[in-house]
Amino acid sequence: MMPIGPLMKEHRLIEKMIQLMQNEIKKIKKHNKVNPLFIDIAVDFIRFYADKTHHGKEEDILFRDLEQKQLSPNHTKIMEELVEEHVWARIRVGKLVDAKNQYTKGKSEVVDQIINLMTELTEFYPKHIEKEDKHFFIPVMKYFNQEEQERMLQEFWDFDKSLIHERYEQVIENLKN
Ligand SMILES: [Fe+2]
Ligand SMILES: [Fe+2]
Repeated sequence: MMPIGPLMKEHRLIEKMIQLMQNEIKKIKKHNKVNPLFIDIAVDFIRFYADKTHHGKEEDILFRDLEQKQLSPNHTKIMEELVEEHVWARIRVGKLVDAKNQYTKGKSEVVDQIINLMTELTEFYPKHIEKEDKHFFIPVMKYFNQEEQERMLQEFWDFDKSLIHERYEQVIENLKN
Protein backbone atom coordinates (compact mmCIF):
# COMPACT_ATOMS: atom_id res chain seq x y z
CA MET A 1 0.00 0.00 0.00
CA MET A 2 1.13 3.54 -0.73
CA PRO A 3 1.34 5.80 2.36
CA ILE A 4 -1.49 7.92 0.98
CA GLY A 5 -3.81 4.87 1.33
CA PRO A 6 -4.60 5.42 5.03
CA LEU A 7 -4.91 9.18 4.49
CA MET A 8 -7.51 8.70 1.77
CA LYS A 9 -9.37 6.20 3.94
CA GLU A 10 -9.46 8.77 6.74
CA HIS A 11 -10.95 11.28 4.31
CA ARG A 12 -13.92 8.95 3.86
CA LEU A 13 -14.65 8.97 7.61
CA ILE A 14 -14.26 12.76 7.80
CA GLU A 15 -16.82 13.02 4.97
CA LYS A 16 -19.28 11.02 7.09
CA MET A 17 -18.93 13.49 9.95
CA ILE A 18 -19.43 16.38 7.51
CA GLN A 19 -22.66 14.73 6.36
CA LEU A 20 -23.85 14.45 9.99
CA MET A 21 -22.97 18.09 10.56
CA GLN A 22 -24.97 19.10 7.48
CA ASN A 23 -27.99 17.24 8.90
CA GLU A 24 -27.48 18.92 12.26
CA ILE A 25 -27.37 22.39 10.63
CA LYS A 26 -30.81 21.68 9.13
CA LYS A 27 -32.15 20.69 12.57
CA ILE A 28 -30.73 23.84 14.19
CA LYS A 29 -32.33 26.00 11.48
CA LYS A 30 -35.67 24.23 11.83
CA HIS A 31 -35.94 24.43 15.62
CA ASN A 32 -33.73 27.46 16.22
CA LYS A 33 -32.09 25.40 18.93
CA VAL A 34 -28.59 23.95 19.32
CA ASN A 35 -27.74 20.54 20.73
CA PRO A 36 -24.48 21.32 22.56
CA LEU A 37 -23.70 17.60 22.93
CA PHE A 38 -23.63 17.16 19.14
CA ILE A 39 -21.22 20.08 18.85
CA ASP A 40 -19.00 18.64 21.59
CA ILE A 41 -18.80 15.31 19.78
CA ALA A 42 -18.26 16.89 16.33
CA VAL A 43 -15.54 19.19 17.72
CA ASP A 44 -13.85 16.26 19.45
CA PHE A 45 -13.92 14.34 16.16
CA ILE A 46 -12.49 17.24 14.19
CA ARG A 47 -9.83 18.09 16.76
CA PHE A 48 -8.68 14.60 17.61
CA TYR A 49 -9.33 12.67 14.42
CA ALA A 50 -9.36 15.15 11.52
CA ASP A 51 -6.71 17.46 12.95
CA LYS A 52 -4.41 15.61 15.34
CA THR A 53 -4.51 12.15 13.75
CA HIS A 54 -5.07 13.02 10.10
CA HIS A 55 -3.59 16.49 9.55
CA GLY A 56 -0.90 15.36 11.99
CA LYS A 57 0.28 12.63 9.63
CA GLU A 58 0.02 14.98 6.65
CA GLU A 59 2.02 17.80 8.22
CA ASP A 60 4.44 15.99 10.53
CA ILE A 61 5.35 13.15 8.16
CA LEU A 62 4.24 13.57 4.51
CA PHE A 63 4.78 17.32 4.16
CA ARG A 64 7.96 17.17 6.29
CA ASP A 65 9.44 14.60 3.88
CA LEU A 66 8.21 16.48 0.81
CA GLU A 67 10.06 19.56 2.05
CA GLN A 68 13.30 17.59 1.57
CA LYS A 69 12.48 17.03 -2.11
CA GLN A 70 12.75 19.25 -5.16
CA LEU A 71 9.04 19.93 -5.60
CA SER A 72 7.55 21.53 -8.69
CA PRO A 73 6.36 25.13 -8.12
CA ASN A 74 2.77 23.89 -8.39
CA HIS A 75 3.22 21.19 -5.73
CA THR A 76 4.98 23.66 -3.43
CA LYS A 77 2.09 26.07 -3.86
CA ILE A 78 -0.55 23.41 -3.13
CA MET A 79 1.33 22.18 -0.05
CA GLU A 80 1.50 25.74 1.35
CA GLU A 81 -2.22 26.18 0.69
CA LEU A 82 -3.01 22.89 2.46
CA VAL A 83 -1.07 23.95 5.58
CA GLU A 84 -2.84 27.34 5.59
CA GLU A 85 -6.19 25.59 5.22
CA HIS A 86 -5.45 23.39 8.25
CA VAL A 87 -4.74 26.57 10.25
CA TRP A 88 -7.98 28.14 8.99
CA ALA A 89 -10.00 25.08 10.07
CA ARG A 90 -8.41 25.11 13.57
CA ILE A 91 -9.43 28.74 14.03
CA ARG A 92 -13.00 28.03 12.89
CA VAL A 93 -13.30 25.09 15.30
CA GLY A 94 -12.02 27.28 18.16
CA LYS A 95 -14.67 29.88 17.32
CA LEU A 96 -17.34 27.17 17.21
CA VAL A 97 -16.36 26.02 20.73
CA ASP A 98 -16.53 29.64 21.98
CA ALA A 99 -19.97 30.14 20.41
CA LYS A 100 -21.27 26.85 21.84
CA ASN A 101 -20.00 27.82 25.32
CA GLN A 102 -21.82 31.14 25.06
CA TYR A 103 -24.96 29.30 23.97
CA THR A 104 -24.83 26.95 26.98
CA LYS A 105 -24.46 30.02 29.21
CA GLY A 106 -27.79 31.25 27.87
CA LYS A 107 -26.77 33.52 24.99
CA SER A 108 -29.28 32.19 22.47
CA GLU A 109 -28.41 34.92 19.93
CA VAL A 110 -25.26 32.99 19.01
CA VAL A 111 -27.34 30.38 17.13
CA ASP A 112 -26.72 32.15 13.80
CA GLN A 113 -23.01 32.29 14.50
CA ILE A 114 -23.03 28.55 15.24
CA ILE A 115 -24.90 27.86 11.98
CA ASN A 116 -22.41 30.00 10.03
CA LEU A 117 -19.34 28.35 11.55
CA MET A 118 -20.72 24.85 11.00
CA THR A 119 -21.64 25.77 7.43
CA GLU A 120 -18.15 27.14 6.77
CA LEU A 121 -16.58 23.93 8.09
CA THR A 122 -18.89 21.66 6.11
CA GLU A 123 -18.10 23.62 2.94
CA PHE A 124 -14.40 23.67 3.70
CA TYR A 125 -13.66 19.97 4.26
CA PRO A 126 -14.98 18.54 0.97
CA LYS A 127 -12.97 21.10 -1.03
CA HIS A 128 -9.83 20.51 1.02
CA ILE A 129 -10.19 16.75 0.69
CA GLU A 130 -10.77 16.98 -3.05
CA LYS A 131 -7.64 19.09 -3.48
CA GLU A 132 -5.60 16.43 -1.67
CA ASP A 133 -7.24 13.36 -3.21
CA LYS A 134 -7.40 14.60 -6.80
CA HIS A 135 -4.54 17.07 -7.17
CA PHE A 136 -1.85 16.31 -4.63
CA PHE A 137 -1.51 12.94 -2.94
CA ILE A 138 -1.05 10.71 -5.99
CA PRO A 139 1.21 13.04 -8.01
CA VAL A 140 3.55 13.70 -5.04
CA MET A 141 4.14 9.98 -4.48
CA LYS A 142 6.52 10.12 -7.47
CA TYR A 143 9.04 12.03 -5.31
CA PHE A 144 9.52 8.93 -3.13
CA ASN A 145 11.05 5.59 -4.05
CA GLN A 146 9.54 2.31 -2.90
CA GLU A 147 11.67 2.10 0.23
CA GLU A 148 10.85 5.68 1.26
CA GLN A 149 7.13 4.99 0.77
CA GLU A 150 7.30 1.87 2.93
CA ARG A 151 9.15 3.76 5.66
CA MET A 152 6.56 6.52 5.55
CA LEU A 153 3.70 4.04 5.84
CA GLN A 154 5.37 2.47 8.89
CA GLU A 155 5.82 5.90 10.45
CA PHE A 156 2.10 6.56 9.88
CA TRP A 157 1.18 3.37 11.77
CA ASP A 158 3.52 4.27 14.63
CA PHE A 159 2.05 7.78 14.75
CA ASP A 160 -1.50 6.37 15.02
CA LYS A 161 -0.50 3.87 17.70
CA SER A 162 0.85 6.52 20.05
CA LEU A 163 -2.35 8.57 19.69
CA ILE A 164 -4.66 6.00 21.25
CA HIS A 165 -2.70 6.28 24.52
CA GLU A 166 -2.61 10.06 24.35
CA ARG A 167 -6.34 10.06 23.75
CA TYR A 168 -7.21 8.17 26.92
CA GLU A 169 -4.61 9.91 29.04
CA GLN A 170 -6.44 13.08 27.99
CA VAL A 171 -9.82 11.57 28.99
CA ILE A 172 -8.45 10.89 32.50
CA GLU A 173 -6.96 14.39 32.76
CA ASN A 174 -10.29 15.94 31.72
CA LEU A 175 -12.24 13.91 34.27
CA LYS A 176 -9.77 14.86 37.04
CA ASN A 177 -10.25 18.55 36.33
FE1 LIG B 1 -5.25 18.20 4.83
FE1 LIG C 1 -6.40 15.23 4.33
